[in-house]
Amino acid sequence: MKPFVLVNCAMSADGKLAGPERKQVRISSEEDMVRVKNLRKRYDAILVGVGTVIADDPHLTIKNASYEENPVRIVLDSHGRIPPEARVLDDRAPTIIVTNNECTKDWGSNVTVIRGGSGRINLTDVLHILAKDLGIENMIVEGGGEVIASFFREKLVDRYSVFVGGLLIGGRTSPTPADGDGWLAPEGVKLSLDSAEVLGNGALLTFTPKY
Ligand SMILES: NC(=O)c1ccc[n+]([C@@H]2O[C@H](COP(=O)([O-])OP(=O)(O)OC[C@H]3O[C@@H](n4cnc5c(N)ncnc54)[C@H](OP(=O)(O)O)[C@@H]3O)[C@@H](O)[C@H]2O)c1
Repeated sequence: MKPFVLVNCAMSADGKLAGPERKQVRISSEEDMVRVKNLRKRYDAILVGVGTVIADDPHLTIKNASYEENPVRIVLDSHGRIPPEARVLDDRAPTIIVTNNECTKDWGSNVTVIRGGSGRINLTDVLHILAKDLGIENMIVEGGGEVIASFFREKLVDRYSVFVGGLLIGGRTSPTPADGDGWLAPEGVKLSLDSAEVLGNGALLTFTPKY
């Protein structure tokens, strides 16, 4: 039992999620931003890694939505690295922090803490807990590259949508949608293209993984 997992991200036309040093870059068109806002309204939860929280300090909320209307925010953080002033720790939406058994960090009373085993967080176990104990039926994984790669490696992605924006970012250290340790080579993860749609100065590609 696991929630339906949609990976949704935006990359440049040269396949980068952000700039060198993980500097945030505006990639989505206005049309794509409207799409993402509407998408968030239909999902129970949004998940990111602590790398994204440190790099971008996102709210992970819907503009003008109440606490109850916002999806649950989930952050993977095994070492308690979320900065105390991070926006994901504010009171605008329910927040879950997924950590491991060894982490002793106290994030305060605003958050629910889930343990994903010892050492590296076991995503399969975590998704089971999210579905069974917290009633999360569907979720968007928004990034970054390390987290998306882990979801693919564990064959947990049900749909992958990527907005390809009309810009180049460049940089050999710039993150991509499937970073990690390169397990993809040589076979890769096969994807079946479901749709391609022009959204302003870019295109939204939606795929179903074929594991
Ligand atoms: N364009 C887009 O759509 C988009 C969206 C999101 C982010 N981004 C960009 O992506 C970059 C951040 O990506 P990132 O790769 O550095 O960080 P990330 O994927 O957001 O977070 C990676 C961290 O998550 C933690 N983690 C815990 N369990 C994990 C698991 N099972 N698998 C993978 N990670 C796990 C690890 O830190 P611990 O070991 O400390 O737990 C890991 O270092 C930023 O530049 C941001 O701007 C772009």
